[in-house]
Amino acid sequence: MSRISNYSHTGFRVPCHWLVFDGARLENCEHRSARYQEIRVQLLRAIKRAEQHGGRPYVVPDTAFQGQVMLPTQQLARWLSTQPESVLSSDAVRRERNGIDYLPAKADFRSSVQFMDKIVNQSLSRNLDLIQPEMYEEIRDAVDETMGMDNASWQEINLSQTMSVIISRTCTRVLFGLSLSRNHVYLCILRLFLIFMGASSLVIGQMPPWIIRPVIGVLLHIPTAVLKNLAGSYIRPFIEERFQTGESDKQDQEEKSFVAQSVQSADKSKLQFSGCITDYLVNQFLFLAFAAIATTSAAATNIFLDILSVESRFHLYETLRSEAAPTFESESDWTSARSVTRLTKMDSAIRESLRMNPLQCRGLLKKVMPNDGIILPDGSYLPQGTWVGLPMRAIHYDDKLYPNPQEYDPYRFSRLKKVVEMEGHNEIPTSSYFDAAQPSDKFFSFSYGRSVCPGRWFAVRLLKLMISYVVIHYDIKPLSRRPRNLSFGDASIPALSITILVRRRK
Ligand code: HEM
Repeated sequence: MSRISNYSHTGFRVPCHWLVFDGARLENCEHRSARYQEIRVQLLRAIKRAEQHGGRPYVVPDTAFQGQVMLPTQQLARWLSTQPESVLSSDAVRRERNGIDYLPAKADFRSSVQFMDKIVNQSLSRNLDLIQPEMYEEIRDAVDETMGMDNASWQEINLSQTMSVIISRTCTRVLFGLSLSRNHVYLCILRLFLIFMGASSLVIGQMPPWIIRPVIGVLLHIPTAVLKNLAGSYIRPFIEERFQTGESDKQDQEEKSFVAQSVQSADKSKLQFSGCITDYLVNQFLFLAFAAIATTSAAATNIFLDILSVESRFHLYETLRSEAAPTFESESDWTSARSVTRLTKMDSAIRESLRMNPLQCRGLLKKVMPNDGIILPDGSYLPQGTWVGLPMRAIHYDDKLYPNPQEYDPYRFSRLKKVVEMEGHNEIPTSSYFDAAQPSDKFFSFSYGRSVCPGRWFAVRLLKLMISYVVIHYDIKPLSRRPRNLSFGDASIPALSITILVRRRK
């Protein structure tokens, strides 16, 4: 049995304010800002070397001084994803990583996640075909409004803000209906809440846990809680109305609104809740809005950045347009579920962008729970409390899994699909393995195994409808180069300031 906890085989060790790589000690790096870049480059190199450490688990340092053991192969990823919560707990990590203890609304985390999983699966994922007409209508109106109707001149718009508005409106429409999706005051409060909530969980979760985390936690908690209460005051009447009218009991499952279905689910499991059920639901809906909108907006921004800066030889924008235009010839095509299945090149471009830009470079983090620790499949010992996870980004950039991984190749997955359809494949049963929303042991953008994102089918449907509408109705000037994403700890998000030039087509 080998102990990973001494970090020796990686050439560097954590946690402490000394970082040791390949025997070279970098002292007190936080006080040597001039050397920061150099240190960063060395650290990245050391991590890269460790990642190529013959597929063996290795340790990476972390801004919160929580060393993490990374499992760098598909086999280990499969093993990790099947471990029970009592052995490797993802809840324990998420609680700390997302700064849950410092955020407003401390509902029981496990039951919260289970409830969200349930309502997303039953009210969104299973009803995608029914809600597509509403999604389309809101996307159309939101795109027309944010990207403009001027077909004579180019308009400069902020990409990330535009995506955030379109996606907040579409999600709000599906969750709470037309009146709230057109309420600009609510949308403004919601977006501010999402920004504060995102910044809070990102900053608090990556801070050292001692004095800094509680202090920053308290400071960020105040505006986040105010915004949460304000946003909640708009949602609360919808929930109260459903309880009063008892709509949940009268209507058929298919006709019910998202709120009505959630109220019914909560009603059925009411024994699990302590306190006011309406408060509980307000919290759940706001957390769900956060999980849905922040991620999908960032993914949409990444996708457009990739599409607009891809090498011209791919003719990507024109290809996406010539795939979407005949698919959506009439208004009824936009509301038909069959249309979106025809967008194979767009699906491939979306998956490729998700591969290259996972929102976190490391994921599926779990904490070792048993008192005696655990033994990894390669025989290494991990003591209780160790965090273990997947180097998602490194696996997504492994050239044994993805040839030429540094290149954004929009047709990578549509080509692979074709091969499976024409020739079959021993290990891949159907070509849907390469669908944008399909997780696998080498594609983790929506996570994998037990903690896989329940909203992924909804997100991909929304993205396809929105990209189709944009490419059909707008010209956009290409970008000379792909702007770099911003990294903070494990997280990677597209820069918020990027602008693009758009013009409505005649
Ligand atoms: C492109 C967009 C999206 C991406 C990249 C994404 C990614 C992820 C990832 C990586 C996780 C796992 C997080 C973790 O383990 O800590 C997750 C969880 C989750 N996502 Fe998404 N997501 C997206 C869109 C959505 C949407 C649209 C919804 C809702 C409609 C949603 C709802 C959730 C929920 C409720 C969870 C928690 C599930 C659980 O822990 O069991 N997501 N998502």
